[in-house]
Amino acid sequence: MLETITDLSALRARIDGWRRAGLRVGFVPTMGNLHDGHYSLVRLARERADRVVASVFVNPTQFGPNEDFARYPRTPEADARGLDAAGCDLLWLPSVETMYPYGVESTVRVRVPGVTEVLEGAHRPGHFDGVATVVARLLNQVRPDVAVFGRKDYQQLAVVRYLVRDLAFPVELLGAQIVREADGLAMSSRNQYLSAEERPRAAEIHRCLQAMREAVLAGAPRAQVEDEALRRLAAAGFEPDYAVVRRDDLTEPADGEPGARVALVAARLGRTRLIDNLEFAVG
Ligand code: PAF
Repeated sequence: MLETITDLSALRARIDGWRRAGLRVGFVPTMGNLHDGHYSLVRLARERADRVVASVFVNPTQFGPNEDFARYPRTPEADARGLDAAGCDLLWLPSVETMYPYGVESTVRVRVPGVTEVLEGAHRPGHFDGVATVVARLLNQVRPDVAVFGRKDYQQLAVVRYLVRDLAFPVELLGAQIVREADGLAMSSRNQYLSAEERPRAAEIHRCLQAMREAVLAGAPRAQVEDEALRRLAAAGFEPDYAVVRRDDLTEPADGEPGARVALVAARLGRTRLIDNLEFAVG
């Protein structure tokens, strides 16, 4: 039976009790409006831990001034029902005041260098500072043994890995596979912004990622693969921010170099900005 906690000392007391009983704690941080992608993270945490905590917090510090913080969907009752059904034990539901007791503007901020400066970081200035800041706080509040993040936010996972390693958070990180709709569209809370006409077209992003992978595996030069992907997305009515092939650490590979790769796309369809990626290996 899911318990909801909104007070930090109550959260600490409950989790300390589990710890004293020798139980392993899993954690799934979210911004709510949960879908099957999130529930798959909860199920993975469940496999790796005795108790599972999920947080729902729409974090103001990771939204830019022209982004969708105000209209970001908030569905707390449905989220609680879904978490309960997925086997979550505790919903951590802090207010903005609980998360940022000295105010959003005066809060201590965490900035991860390097990996935050490209792709999403370049298109959404300050976004990853907000993510790193809130993830550091959440990890200190929950103090989990294992924390699960989705691989759909590939760069976010890279940022969190750096954060955890550099600040020596005693937590194991797990990246969970992307969950897709039947037509390949990666599940996302933002998909509901798509109009009925846009929704089937949105699956083109996944087809484009697959085509990028096939072209790289067939030996096409990276620059050509990326240009062709941008053209393809534009022809399908998207405004792409980027379509790139990177090493798994998001640095640029040489053509033909063997190793792990990830193709990443961010593109706007109407008013909705979608991101997705596909991991594969060369050689
Ligand atoms: O991926 C998300 O939902 C958010 O970026 C996270 C990790 C919960 C931080 O607010």
